Amino acid sequence: TGGYHGRTMMTLGLTGKVAPYKTGFGPFPGEIFHARFPNELHGVSVQDAIDSVEQIFKNDIEASRVAAIILEPVQGEGGFNVAPKELWQRLRALCDQHGILLIADEVQTGAGRTGTWFAVEQTGVAPDLITLAKSMAGGFPISAVVGRAEVMDAPAAGGLGGTYAGSPMACAAALAVLDEFEKYDLLQRSRDVGARITASLQTLAKKHSCIADVRGLGAMVAMELCKNGDVHQPDAELTKALAAEATKRGLIILTCGTYGNVVRILVPLTASDAVLDEGLAIIAASLDALQGA
Ligand SMILES: Cc1ncc(COP(=O)(O)O)c(C=O)c1O
Repeated sequence: TGGYHGRTMMTLGLTGKVAPYKTGFGPFPGEIFHARFPNELHGVSVQDAIDSVEQIFKNDIEASRVAAIILEPVQGEGGFNVAPKELWQRLRALCDQHGILLIADEVQTGAGRTGTWFAVEQTGVAPDLITLAKSMAGGFPISAVVGRAEVMDAPAAGGLGGTYAGSPMACAAALAVLDEFEKYDLLQRSRDVGARITASLQTLAKKHSCIADVRGLGAMVAMELCKNGDVHQPDAELTKALAAEATKRGLIILTCGTYGNVVRILVPLTASDAVLDEGLAIIAASLDALQGA
C-alpha cells in the first residue's frame, strides 16, 4: 500500500494509491495484492507488514505462484516513507523461501538521490531486479532495469525493445552523469544536502506543532503536516496552502502522501548551499505566514 510504480496498465495495477493515478482507469490486471507498508509514526510495524504478506499467502494466492514482490526503498508519491532495513531482510528471506523475485523500484530513490547509488545498498540486501530512471541521466529521458544475469538474460534476443529503447543520446547523457558523480563526489553531496534540509526542517518543527514528522534518506527529505498537533489528523489543506504560498514567493515544492499532507523536497544535487538556504528560508517564511509566527 502507498507505493507508486508508474502509469502503464501493469504498473498502475501495482500502484497502491488511487487518487490521482488510478482514478477513472481500470480494470487493472488481476492477481496483484497490496501488503501493508511499515509506518512507525502511524503504528504499522515491520511485523504488521510481514503479517500482511503472510495473510495474502493464506487468503489470496499461494506463495509458490507469486512472481515478485516489489517495493520502493523510500515511497516517493506515497509520502517519503522509508522501508526499514529489517523489512528488506525479512522480505528477502520470504522471497528466497518461496522462489519469489524481490524487486526494488528505485526510479525515484536511485541514481544517488539517497546518498548511495542505489538506496537499497544501505540495507545490505540484494534485490533480484532494480528499476532506475529519473536522475540517472540528469533529467534526460531514460530508464533502466538492473538485475541478476539469470533474470536479465531470460528474454530471447530481440524479445525486449521499443521505439525509444537504447537511445544513444540518452545513454550518452547517463554516462556523462556517472562521470559528474565521480568528479564532484555527488554521493557525499547527496548526504550533505539531506543533512542541511533535515536540520532546517527540524528547526522549523520545533516552532510549528503542525509538523508531525521530518523524515527521509539522503537528499530525499519530507515533512508531514497535521492538525492540532495530532499526528493522526492529516492536514492536506495546510500542505496545499504552503505549496501555493511558496510558489508565490518563487519556490516550487511538491506534495505527496496518501492523505496529501506531506511536503517533499527533491533538489538537484548540484544546487549550491546558498540556493538551498534560499529555498529553505522560503519554506520557513511561508509556514510562518500561514501559521502566524
Ligand atoms: C517509484 C517510481 N516508480 C516508477 C515511476 C515511473 O512512473 P511513470 O510511469 O509515471 O513514469 C516513478 C515516477 O514518478 C516513481 O516515482
